[in-house]
Amino acid sequence: MPTGRRLDIAVLPAEAAKMRADCYVVIDALRATTMIATLLHRGARAVTVADSEDAARELAAASGALLAGEVGGLPPAGFDLGNSPVEASEMDLADREVVLFTTNGTRAICESAARGRTVAGAFTNGGAIVDACRDAPAVAFICAGNAGGEQFSIEDYAVAAHIATRLQGDDGGIEAGDPVLLALEPGASLANATEIPRLMGSGSHAAHLRSIGLDEDIAFAGQADVTPVVPAVVEWGQGWARLERAQGG
Ligand code: MLT
Repeated sequence: MPTGRRLDIAVLPAEAAKMRADCYVVIDALRATTMIATLLHRGARAVTVADSEDAARELAAASGALLAGEVGGLPPAGFDLGNSPVEASEMDLADREVVLFTTNGTRAICESAARGRTVAGAFTNGGAIVDACRDAPAVAFICAGNAGGEQFSIEDYAVAAHIATRLQGDDGGIEAGDPVLLALEPGASLANATEIPRLMGSGSHAAHLRSIGLDEDIAFAGQADVTPVVPAVVEWGQGWARLERAQGG
């Protein structure tokens, strides 16, 4: 286990441009990265994320993959499924390929893939992410945010901060960026897993999901460590990245 590990949180994707890490953990807890972990947990062979709806349609048409995702929280016309981890958790996806487009999360993954080793993190796979990052001397969490990645989102920060505090628990000393220092403040409660679902449900995106009847997805995403899956980018190109279940995860 490295001592003096470097931990950063990019509270918006643009901040990650200046970070150098051995592992980038992209977090869109409501709901894209929770969805990706769930799809792979249900047996999907791979999830290819796209940075635009058109690219997703083309990728799915070319490969015969299931087309999943959302615009405004709901599946666009012609999509096979939405971005609902509850829906995915009820499906048998053995050996299926899925193409996913979402407003913020899939774009953040595509951007990060070009920088280096990239995995998809959520509250539901937080423990598996801690294990996957244990040997990395520098880890950067990238919050996907809202409004095309231009607006802070409390659920992504809460989950990033929580996983960072768990990872820090492994080490003696760390070097940390300011958002990590805030997370580590004893009064901040972000180390406490029971606080995280409340924070995840308190923001504007959760309110939007409730307004369109997707309350169950918020509850689903607020479960700690219910999947051992670490979705990892194995291949990427212009506007897309392919994630598979990492070895041992
Ligand atoms: C996103 O990528 O912005 C989200 O996953 C949106 C959602 O489906 O709730």
